[in-house]
Amino acid sequence: MDYYFAPMEGITGYIHRSAYQALFPCIDKYFTAFIAPNQHGKLSSREKNDILPEHNRGMKVVPQLLTNKADDFILTAGKLKEYGYREVNLNLGCPSRTVVSKYRGSGFLARPEELDRFLYEVFEKTETDISVKTRTGRDSPQEFVRLMEIYNKYPLKELIIHPRTQQDFYKNTPDLSVFAQALSVSRCPVCYNGDIFTTEDLKVFRARFANVDKVMLGRGLLVNPMLIEMAEDGTAIDMERIRKFHDMVYGGYREVLSGDKVILFKMKELWSYMIHLFSDSKKYAKKIRKSEKLPAYEEAVDALFLECPLREPERNAQT
Ligand SMILES: Cc1cc2nc3c(=O)[nH]c(=O)nc-3n(C[C@H](O)[C@H](O)[C@H](O)COP(=O)(O)O)c2cc1C
Repeated sequence: MDYYFAPMEGITGYIHRSAYQALFPCIDKYFTAFIAPNQHGKLSSREKNDILPEHNRGMKVVPQLLTNKADDFILTAGKLKEYGYREVNLNLGCPSRTVVSKYRGSGFLARPEELDRFLYEVFEKTETDISVKTRTGRDSPQEFVRLMEIYNKYPLKELIIHPRTQQDFYKNTPDLSVFAQALSVSRCPVCYNGDIFTTEDLKVFRARFANVDKVMLGRGLLVNPMLIEMAEDGTAIDMERIRKFHDMVYGGYREVLSGDKVILFKMKELWSYMIHLFSDSKKYAKKIRKSEKLPAYEEAVDALFLECPLREPERNAQT
């Protein structure tokens, strides 16, 4: 099984990625959070830092682009090629209203004929491989029949399917029957993404889709960085390694960001997931959330690791 780390804007940047790779080297491909191409092919400093080869050594990283303008995509893919990237990923999944209202991300799915023209152009003129990460429609999964016909016209490197519509956001459960249907007609390799939170979820998915050999995980890995290792080797959770992982991410942010508030904002975002690894953690979570200065934060984290028991690993981590 190939495992991919899902792109998660604001969280899975190069600092998080490098720390993860150093301590849990089980990922076949990492995807960057979306880069928004412009007509000059210029990357913002955040985007550039995220893709710089020296920030991504020893990892297979695929930059992701969010646009509905073929020229901008082609220009930025060309720029990324100069940095050594051989594959770029197109974001057709982002459900955020500001993105969707401009017919980008999962909003682009509502304009299949335009999407078809876009894909025709980018496949004509882009020199790198192109993969797609898609939802199953903007308003209804019925849109996916037409969308699959379009995807099948092009030599996609792979198609990552998160079987929810834009309307679902992250509510409801992924629609596995739509996924199964797409799998049966897809001409390119398919990767599954969505709601794999426990080793049991992974087992159930593999039992049902024995012919799918690529899975992308996002929130499940944010909560439990050892999820894949536990599923593959039956390894028990190793709190020392998780603590080290936290310290590496925290140290990385302290090096590149300035101001306690900015650093803590990033750490608190990560904790909004990782806290679910612990049980009876309410009081500690509150202390972390309320901390405004680094020493208070460090004290709260030390107490959590020292005093808080782990949650039953097989309980759904998102509850
Ligand atoms: C905070 C957050 C940020 C995300 N940012 C991106 C992004 O930049 N690009 C993208 O394709 N998906 C993004 N996603 C979606 C995830 O990549 C993934 O498809 C989604 O979380 C479902 O997978 P999961 O159930 O394993 O988490 C984001 C999701 C979250 C929760």
